[in-house]
Amino acid sequence: NGPNLNLLGTREPTVYGSDTLADIEAKCAPVADKISVETQWVHSNSEATLVDAVQASMGVHAGIVLNAGAYTHTSVALRDAVTASAVPTIELHLSNVHARESFRHLSYLAPVVVGQIAGFGAHGYALALQAIAAHIRGDWS
Ligand code: DQA
Repeated sequence: NGPNLNLLGTREPTVYGSDTLADIEAKCAPVADKISVETQWVHSNSEATLVDAVQASMGVHAGIVLNAGAYTHTSVALRDAVTASAVPTIELHLSNVHARESFRHLSYLAPVVVGQIAGFGAHGYALALQAIAAHIRGDWS
């Protein structure tokens, strides 16, 4: 989770909903349990810390769910980290970025991720967990 997502709950609730990041993590816990997925949650406002986290996932994590926030639309460094790590990654957004301002339509991540999930609000995190697990396992049933 990238910049400003620590403000979820109070940040533009009409766009991002009223769940905090901690609420979302708590709601995802039983979903992860159900599909036997272990999660590690990371938040940083710093691009460098996010690059470090993606690099640190190599050989440690089977997949990444990445809501890079505004860095989605700006960061070649984060895109390069995703490519270099070769860890399967899903790009996630609470809002439907394609229905918003045109600068949100460009994603530097989109060409190097498995796929995108956008517009489902907090539920998108649960969908992304299920999607990345199914992708890695090659089994969605
Ligand atoms: C976001 C969408 C981005 O455009 C924005 O900069 C964010 C949040 C989302 O989850 O909808 O910070 O990634």
